[in-house]
Parts: sequence; C-alpha cells; structure tokens
Amino acid sequence: MTAHLQDLFSFLRFASVSTDSRHTADVRDCASWLQQKLLSMRLSVETHETARHPVVVARNEHRADRKTVLIYGHYDVQPVDPLELWQSNPFEPEIREGKIWARGATDNKGQMLAHVLGVEKTLREHAALPVNLIFLFEGEEEIGSPNLAPFLEKHREELRCDVIAVSDTGMVAAGIPTMGYGLRGIACAEVTLRGPKSDLHSGIFGGAVANPITALARLVASLHDDKGRIQIHGFYDDVRPLEAWESEMWRQIPGVAEADYLRSTGSPAVFGEDGYSSAERVWARPTAELNGIGGGYQGEGSKTVLPAKAFAKFSFRLVPDQDPRDILEKVERHFREHCPPGVHCDIEIGHDGKPYLADPHSADGKAAQRALHKAFGREAVLIREGGSIPIIQSFREILGADTLLLGLALPDCRIHAPNENFPVENFETGILLNQFLLDELANA
Ligand code: BES
Ligand code: MN
Repeated sequence: MTAHLQDLFSFLRFASVSTDSRHTADVRDCASWLQQKLLSMRLSVETHETARHPVVVARNEHRADRKTVLIYGHYDVQPVDPLELWQSNPFEPEIREGKIWARGATDNKGQMLAHVLGVEKTLREHAALPVNLIFLFEGEEEIGSPNLAPFLEKHREELRCDVIAVSDTGMVAAGIPTMGYGLRGIACAEVTLRGPKSDLHSGIFGGAVANPITALARLVASLHDDKGRIQIHGFYDDVRPLEAWESEMWRQIPGVAEADYLRSTGSPAVFGEDGYSSAERVWARPTAELNGIGGGYQGEGSKTVLPAKAFAKFSFRLVPDQDPRDILEKVERHFREHCPPGVHCDIEIGHDGKPYLADPHSADGKAAQRALHKAFGREAVLIREGGSIPIIQSFREILGADTLLLGLALPDCRIHAPNENFPVENFETGILLNQFLLDELANA
C-alpha cells in the first residue's frame, strides 16, 4: 500500500462522528492525528478548542508578496447507522474494486487529505509552496458548524486570505472534472400535531375527534400543488432566476440528463417544477422536502388506534437571494394558517444556512479550471450544487473571500449512507489537483 493510502487509512480509523457525544474522544483523537500529520510537514499548527469539537489551523511561512490561499475541510463524519447494511466495518477501511470503503472516505476525509498530501508532496519536491497557505479544518460540519462562524469573527485577521478552496462537493460523473460555483442554502423545521391527550380506541372515539395523522397529511399536502410548485405565500419572492448562459451550459453537461437521474435514483420517473430540467431543479430552484414522518402504530399487522400525535421533519433547500430566516417565518405562518381543525400545532425551528453563488469566470475561477484540466486531462464543467455547506457564505461575509468548489465525490460514493466509498483514482488525482491548483492560483 502507498504511503498516501496508509495516511488515509489512519485518518479513516477514527470514528469522528460529531453529532454523537459517545464519540467526543474519537473526534478529539482524530484532530490530534491531523495536528501531528501537519506538524510532520513542518507547518505551524494550532488546535483551537471550541464549545464542542476542535478547529485545526496550519500555515506555512507567509510572505507579503504572495497570494494567500485558505483550504477548508472537515474531519468529522456522519453516523454509520444502519450498521447492518455495511459490507465491511465503517471504521476499518478496505480497498475493493479500486475504491476505499469507509465512513468519511469521500465526505470529507479523503477529499481533504488529498489537499494535505498535495501540499506535502510539493514541499518534498520543491521545499516551498508557491503561495501563503492556511489550512482550516473543523470537526462540526455535519452538525451545521455551530462554532465556526464565531471562530472566523474572532480570528478574522489571522485568517485573512485572497481565495478559498474546498473539496467537499461532487463531480457530475467519473472522469469529468467539475467546478462548483454555487450551493443551495438550507432551513429546517419540525411540526408536531397533537389531538387527544392519549391514544384512543379508534372504534369507540373515531369520528368524534380529529385524527392527528390525517391532519398532518393535509398539512403536508398543502405545501405543493399537483405539479410540485411550493404553495407557501411569498416563498419564491426572492428567487433569482437562473441565467440563460447557465441553462445553455448545463444542457451540454454529461451525467445529468433525465435518464441519468432515473438510473442513479431508481425512481420510476423524474418529477419537479414545470419548465426546468432535472439539473436546473436541483441546482437553481428551491425545494420543500419532507425528511421524516411519524405517528401511530408502526408494528406488524393492524392496531385500531386513533393516535394522540403525529410529527413531520422538513428541510427547505434555498437559492439566491432567499434568506433562511425570512423563509422560516413564511413557513411558520403557512403551517399555522393551514393547520386543520381539531389539533394543536407545535412548530420547532431548526438550523439553517445561506445559499452561495459566485462568478465562475473570475481570475481565480479560471485558474482553478486550468488546474482541473491538468489533473483530469479534460475541460472542467461548471455547475451549482444542490447540497449545502453553510460556512461558505460565512467565509464571504466574514473573511471577504470567495470559494472555489473542487469536488471529487461521485454520484455513487454513497455519502451519508451505508457503504460510503471513494475511488483510489479520485484520491490520487485530488493530490495532483492540489499541486496544480496552488501553482495556477499563484500565477492568476
Ligand atoms: N459535503 C456535503 C455537502 C455536499 C455534498 C454538497 C455533495 C454538494 C454535493 C456536506 O457535508 C453536507 O452534507 N451538508 C449538509 C448540510 C448541513 C448543514 C447538515 C447537507 O447538504 O445536507
Ligand atoms: Mn456531509
């Protein structure tokens, strides 16, 4: 096994699940390993405590006449459950079929370590980097980065930079270098409808009081019309229409035709807002999604019960210029106004994050595209991402720098799911990409 893969395997063995307090020590041990790795490259390294998981910052020696590039990544991972669906232990990485199988292999340890090892390789080959470098690695991305924006505020001066690079997004297909210039925002909420004070016999009481599940079904159904358009008053007010050049450009991109979405999802049909392609629906239009729903009897067979309550978890994906706080107010108003009679409606507002959109044709954007071309041997495609990385817009607001999204995840890497995997080839290409990127940015 190569030294690169040995390093990645060591990194992947830490069960750095940020959301689960039983893994707090694993998250910390993972940060220490990272610190040691960066120290071994003769970078200066600081590990900063936060209210929860540490932030690791490393830098080379900075010179006033050079550009400063900040590279961000996260060393925390999503939980592994359902564990029984994994073909091998999520924290004991294995290579099968040319892929590394482990939790975090793609999201984000494999992608972020490719940057670290690219820097290590450049330092070995040339003894110095062509830019002032800042590595910023956090352990809370998968729980919404609650402590990172305050950290940026506090360390604004030390983190001042010209441009930011992040590999925590996707490629449209294997072998197709992909640069992201947008991310959707996110806003989460949970609704609980309560009826009778306890579960009731549905024969003795059914018909005389409202059923909370029926009420919830009506409330959920009120969110969209038959064609998938969101019915919340004012929801689309601030949506910036996608530009003609984007639609035109996206039509040429491989891997995102209707047939590709059918194949990769296994759904019987694509579905969404009229007048938009699948890629447009995901990259440039907002959505209202139901992430979970529950209430009543879930066991085997039937049980004649009229449940006391029902709940649903929602997340809204947002696009420029929608504001998550404003959207959550509109959502809350909608739920209150559309709550069917006979039940109480409790609304709990969850985390949120702003959307992000940059100019892919900026000087640094073009430099990144040249680096992608060199690393992959073909022209990069330019996309927006459907997923969210809320800290990216905070980088712009607090540090005043734009972010280049140089994702290496493939559609079938199964991030957040059982059997997460990362092709060895993407890992190695990511190392080269980092080397080309710093060179191109230095000269941009
Ligand atoms: N790396 C992902 C985001 C991502 C993946 C963007 C693929 C584009 C393509 C990130 O770790 C993530 O999962 N973010 C969460 C948001 C967070 C606030 C929980 C998401 O998008 O659901
Ligand atoms: Mn993730």
